[in-house]
Amino acid sequence: FDANLKMEGSSGMRRADCRGKGGAPGFKVAILGAAGGIGQPLAMLMKMNPLVSVLHLYGVSNIPGVTADISHMDTGAVVRGFLGQPQLDNALTGMDLVIILASVPRKPGMTRDDLFTMNAGIIKTLCEGIARCCPKAIVNLISNPVNSTVPIAAEVFKKAGTYDPKRLLGVTMLDVVRANTFVAEVLGVDPREVDVPVVGGHAGVTILPLLSQVKPPCSFSQEETENLTARIQNGGIEVAVAKDGTGSATLSMAYAALKFADACLRGLRGDAGIVECSFVASQVTELPFFATKVRLGRNGAEEIYQLGPLNEYERAGLEKAKGELAGSIQKGISFMSK
Ligand code: NAD
Ligand code: LMR
Repeated sequence: FDANLKMEGSSGMRRADCRGKGGAPGFKVAILGAAGGIGQPLAMLMKMNPLVSVLHLYGVSNIPGVTADISHMDTGAVVRGFLGQPQLDNALTGMDLVIILASVPRKPGMTRDDLFTMNAGIIKTLCEGIARCCPKAIVNLISNPVNSTVPIAAEVFKKAGTYDPKRLLGVTMLDVVRANTFVAEVLGVDPREVDVPVVGGHAGVTILPLLSQVKPPCSFSQEETENLTARIQNGGIEVAVAKDGTGSATLSMAYAALKFADACLRGLRGDAGIVECSFVASQVTELPFFATKVRLGRNGAEEIYQLGPLNEYERAGLEKAKGELAGSIQKGISFMSK
């Protein structure tokens, strides 16, 4: 169903036509899993984003209500809802950016990897749809375990002959957002002034904040370094425990997802100097995927930055991160070779 067209009739069509003929420039964005804990606030934030002209909300439940609700916001984007797998192709056709959230979130006591069995098949099906309907779209993959779902997506796209490593971006922005916040707390400054590179992956020890490279330059005691690193690595658990079994991070993730999607859209628009951390196909280490800073452009992750100088603590962390990442990446690849 289409909330705008259904309710507005021909005036809805006029809006869409107008946009195509030199109206406000904008991109077409689909959110898959849009009625969930992250999906709802993210849908609201994307509806407020002036770079978005069309917003497709896809999911397997509660989509009509969320779409009707969001569509009443008096911002530019036209919102359409798509419910259930028979509508997946319509949700994806023509999209510039697809944000994948669809899945099951973890509960306290579970690792992100415990979600693999439930989420691997969901990601496979959705990525097959992307390969069919919008093979050139930039994909922001948020569903956990990111360290394995990104390799699954890559294998799906390879199988379909549509794989472009630059366009497949695992979202690790929440780790950066948390790192900026926690470091700012320790330094007693505004988090908006802080930039912490977080590399590796998105689970436990694979989340490696490079505290020696914080901007503006600063230094930490060994105790501060260890406490900050542990808090950033366990940020997901901190939220899941506080939510007491009702879910994992949703609001901070919606914020982080908006921040990352907006950076991708500005890159697509051709803005210069858009640099964010992301888990991508990479030659920075011996692993096939790794999160580092990347430069976002018209084709996605157009440049992948090296790690830069690491101190001894970070070099030890890097070895641990690579050890765990290797297994998680292989798990994703193996799932697709069955
Ligand atoms: P949620 O359960 O609240 O929402 C997930 C949504 O996906 C639900 O609406 C559900 O109906 C839908 N869904 C399930 N199967 C589907 C399918 N086959 N097709 C389409 N939709 C389907 O979960 P959430 O809290 O929004 O989290 C979503 C995912 O994001 C989880 O995997 C979570 O672990 C992950 N996450 C990642 C990060 C990150 O930093 N990358 C941060 C937070 C959460
Ligand atoms: C997070 O970092 O909050 C997410 O990956 C969700 C989780 O399971 O921790």
